[in-house]
Amino acid sequence: MSRAHDDENLAGAYERGNAMPDGSLRAWVELVASHVRRPAPSILEIGSGTGVFSAGMARWIAGSEVVAVDASEAMLTEARRHHPHPAVRYLRGEAEAVPAAADSFDLALLSRVIHHIPDRAAAARELARVLRTGGRVVVRTTFRERLDAVVYDHWPRLRTIDERRFPGEAEVVADFLSAGFALEEVTSFAQPVTASLAEYHARLTGRPQSKFTHLTDEEFHQGLARLEAAARTEAPDGPRPVLERYDVAVFSLG
Ligand SMILES: C[S@@+](CC[C@H](N)C(=O)[O-])C[C@H]1O[C@@H](n2cnc3c(N)ncnc32)[C@H](O)[C@@H]1O
Repeated sequence: MSRAHDDENLAGAYERGNAMPDGSLRAWVELVASHVRRPAPSILEIGSGTGVFSAGMARWIAGSEVVAVDASEAMLTEARRHHPHPAVRYLRGEAEAVPAAADSFDLALLSRVIHHIPDRAAAARELARVLRTGGRVVVRTTFRERLDAVVYDHWPRLRTIDERRFPGEAEVVADFLSAGFALEEVTSFAQPVTASLAEYHARLTGRPQSKFTHLTDEEFHQGLARLEAAARTEAPDGPRPVLERYDVAVFSLG
């Protein structure tokens, strides 16, 4: 796993710097819920981070029970503190060795984690083990060939770094097909994360994502200054929300 997430400072910054408006989180949860095939589903989140999605799914998917697995104790601590929910169990574990019995879940969500998993093929096999027949996996990521995050406009070197870190769509699909899954669809979905570029700049000052650990302090601050300048000259007709777009690949277990 990415050792960066073991850092308590990053875990705290991640919690503060990755919040999403309730409406955006709910729209994402509804997209995930559209792939649930039975009432009161049992859901697994791998790489649950600070628990935003796990708690959101427990809140809005009726009767759901969520097991939220993360490799980092620091991230789990933030999750238990900030996003507790009676229907969510936060557990330490790795994608390649999920702490659950076979045939336990109806759906698994992997949000912004697939690029951190060292052995993706093993993780796909592990998901095939813990999902029930008919179960689905929803992968929320940005595939290498479609890296388009706003941060690349201000930290261009991050794009080059992420081109090495993020897998392409074909690689991920191949790993899941080899593990016995069928590909249902690959779609794209975007939601606002902040109301303005100024708000976006303010949240990034805390360096809240592991990708920023790949930059020197000087590079980070130079990019932050570029982002701040862009925020100052934001649309003359008023601030516009900043959107984050993700690819969503859905796999089913026959
Ligand atoms: C970028 S965060 C994503 C958090 C959350 N899912 C989201 O979308 O905001 C990635 C998380 O995956 C965890 N992680 C990294 N590698 C992992 C692995 N092999 N197994 C389980 N969790 C892992 C990290 O500790 C971190 O909390």
